[in-house]
Amino acid sequence: MKICSNAIAWALHSLSLHRATQRKLREELLTITSENPTMDDLNSLPYLECVVRETLRFHGPVAFMDRMVTQDDVLPLSRPYIDTVGKCHDTLPIRKGQIIYISILAFNHDTDIWGPNAGEFRPERWQNVPNAAGSIPGMPHPNLFSFFAGQTNCIGYRFALVEIKAVLFTLIRAFEFEPAVPASRIDHGTALIRMPIHLDDQERGTSLPMILKPVNKQEY
Ligand code: HEM
Repeated sequence: MKICSNAIAWALHSLSLHRATQRKLREELLTITSENPTMDDLNSLPYLECVVRETLRFHGPVAFMDRMVTQDDVLPLSRPYIDTVGKCHDTLPIRKGQIIYISILAFNHDTDIWGPNAGEFRPERWQNVPNAAGSIPGMPHPNLFSFFAGQTNCIGYRFALVEIKAVLFTLIRAFEFEPAVPASRIDHGTALIRMPIHLDDQERGTSLPMILKPVNKQEY
């Protein structure tokens, strides 16, 4: 599925930029003796879990969701905001028929929730989730908003998580990933589904150049 392949591409991108993280993940993955792990095997690997959650938080393969307002209402706000004429508001009136955009990325990158390093890829943050993240609704973990929340949240989240884990399991055990172009030349684009784009080769559409080398298992 396209969203999962994007999530996997972003995981590999971040792992190529964070070689110590990639190595630590590989060390954990190589503790499984089978080449064909079960779902329980994959779900038993704590660092793999952290890497997948951090990929979904940091890259947010789905950037935002929209909803149409079905009746006039007034939304309470957790923080007041100042409008364009300098007036402070602690509620937001909404009108029937309006479309509201809810930014998944804003939650995922909020420094008030995740701390000053919210803008960094750090899988270890999932070993000690900040209390503030407990207020984020979401599935399957209350603090992972990337599958959204509520009655129509992603029905495929379990499948997605295990699919991402299975592909990373196979690729990271077999290959070392290095960036082929500077990180500054890779962009997320502005679409709802965030796909990697190589800024110097945009005619190709989605692309993420990387260098793969076979893993020397003697080193592990
Ligand atoms: C990393 C991978 C994925 C992400 C980030 C993701 C994210 C999302 C999001 C944000 C929604 C919107 C929820 C809403 O509007 O309330 C959604 C809906 C949905 N997703 Fe996923 N998804 C992923 C993978 C999958 C997979 C693998 C499947 C199926 C096997 C799937 C099936 C669905 C379905 C059927 C809906 C519509 C649910 C409804 O309207 O009731 N998703 N997903």
